Amino acid sequence: MVLTRLPLYVGTAEPPFFPGDGSQASSAGSGPSPEEVVVAYHERTKHHYHRYAASLGYMDWATQPDPFRRYAGASLVRLPLPEAGRALPYWQLYVADCMEPAPLSIDSISLFFRYALSLTAWKRVHETTWSLRVNPSSGNLHPTDGYALLPPLYAIHDRPGVYHYAPKEHGLERRADLDPLVWADLTAAFPEGSFLVGLSSIHWREAWKYGERAFRYCQHDVGHALGTLRFAAAALGWKLTLLDRVGEDAVSQLLGLNRDADYAGAEREHPDLVALVVRGDWPSDRGLCLSKEAVSQVAASRWYGTANALSSEHSVDWPVIDQVAVATTSSRIAADEEFSKFPSEEELFEAPVRSGSFTAERVILGRRSAVSMDASTAIPAATFFRMLARLVPTRDGRSVPWDAIPWRPRIHLGLFVHRVNELSSGLYLLARDPGKVEALRQTMRPEFLWRRPPSCPPGLPLYLLKEGDCRALAARVSCGQDIAGDGAFSLGMIADYADSLVTYGAGFYRNLFWEAGLVGQVLYLEAEEAGIRSTGIGCYFDDPVHQVFGISSRDWQSFYHFTVGGPVEDTRLTTLPAYGASPTP
Ligand SMILES: Cc1cc2nc3c(=O)[nH]c(=O)nc-3n(C[C@H](O)[C@H](O)[C@H](O)COP(=O)(O)O)c2cc1C
Repeated sequence: MVLTRLPLYVGTAEPPFFPGDGSQASSAGSGPSPEEVVVAYHERTKHHYHRYAASLGYMDWATQPDPFRRYAGASLVRLPLPEAGRALPYWQLYVADCMEPAPLSIDSISLFFRYALSLTAWKRVHETTWSLRVNPSSGNLHPTDGYALLPPLYAIHDRPGVYHYAPKEHGLERRADLDPLVWADLTAAFPEGSFLVGLSSIHWREAWKYGERAFRYCQHDVGHALGTLRFAAAALGWKLTLLDRVGEDAVSQLLGLNRDADYAGAEREHPDLVALVVRGDWPSDRGLCLSKEAVSQVAASRWYGTANALSSEHSVDWPVIDQVAVATTSSRIAADEEFSKFPSEEELFEAPVRSGSFTAERVILGRRSAVSMDASTAIPAATFFRMLARLVPTRDGRSVPWDAIPWRPRIHLGLFVHRVNELSSGLYLLARDPGKVEALRQTMRPEFLWRRPPSCPPGLPLYLLKEGDCRALAARVSCGQDIAGDGAFSLGMIADYADSLVTYGAGFYRNLFWEAGLVGQVLYLEAEEAGIRSTGIGCYFDDPVHQVFGISSRDWQSFYHFTVGGPVEDTRLTTLPAYGASPTP
């Protein structure tokens, strides 16, 4: 493809970046375009063998951000903790329309947030205690906050409202009262009983530890949270889809993030997305908008609460994060894409998966990142194929969680296969969009084999590129982390980067990370179902990964790494329940 609107940086020289606060132009005349800001940000936040992306370089414990946002003055509705032991099998989350949608009530909303964003455990070692959640997060720093716009619901409120989800309390903070007429206007185009959820990011939470690369991690976390929301909806027989025509200003107004006075002295939340949750069939037009008028009326409603400050001070600011956040606000509409050439469920799985090992509850609430892998567990090829098949949308557009995002896959997998029975070790490629195989082939090393693995389901676009032991290589390019070589397999998520930015605009930079996070969330759950574990890997050496696959142009970029395998438990840690007897430091 021809890059007409993007700056191309070749060789090893650093790309130019825009000094100061980003308002200066890189060359005389106009300032940098949003695409230039994105590309410059991406380049300067790469980790290299000889230099990591800029960060403080040490942990400033005195300013460690509070992982829990609260709004003082907003009333808290505690949600009844769902009873443990729900029998719904995990595999059923992926089967559309196989259960009666749960009615909307305080109990179903409680289960929805329990499976999406709640705490799942407290961990303790010596005097240190910390919590873990359903959604994973880089460094366990949890920059993502969740919101809901709900109709009147018995035991929650008799009028519609905007709520912030408080994970430590498993409760909803009522941020705004909505007039029933405003609610009716806002949801006029949606099926009866629909509601909205929103996500925001507090970039500082990640930047405190990771510096400039933190914006990437915040977006990964949004992708993971979008995944947990989609699976939580599936567990109730509900559907959930991103409203990608709703611009950032509208997200901000709907969630109250534009209210300067409510954040006086507190870290701002960056508006990420709103998604529609429906109980019945999809509305006929999936590219739904919200009425501008109704959104303004939400913003003009009565609001409650002021945000807590998360750190006493910020020892350092990272202006490039603000720059890239501004540059990626442009709209990024991708509705109505064509999926007719994608495989059917039968072609992907051979036999559709209608049985499994665990309940949805056990997989969702039991999900954990492996901190170390055992360097011995091997998985059957059939398990490997099933995990990968879960990552490819089906042609009917109904596969969970891919029905939550309207665009065709832009993230493909460069795999390092170490211990998969019946398969040669080596490098593999999964083209998540079968239509991209040729483009990937042109981009990668000419000597690659592009051979279909034996017994691979016909619809799974998986190829063996090169045989050989790549355990040390996988660990080396993942910042030297052994987990990438000691699992059954690990992978780099290769984004169709330049074409995405050209097609959808700079704002889509974030969507690429969201898609990568969604891929990661499926891998986390699939690993649990297979009785093993996985771990997201945000720390990797970008360009060395590209070199492994022979990618020399900037058009394709590695966006996230993952490892899957037999875990080694950290026996030094004590595990405590998430709620009830939880220690709340
Ligand atoms: C975007 C992202 C990047 C991550 N990067 C790494 C990594 O480079 N190395 C690692 O050991 N764990 C990594 N993790 C795992 C987190 O440390 C883990 O999710 C967090 O500690 C919370 O634990 P849990 O996943 O068990 O809830 C990453 C997780 C995410 C979501």
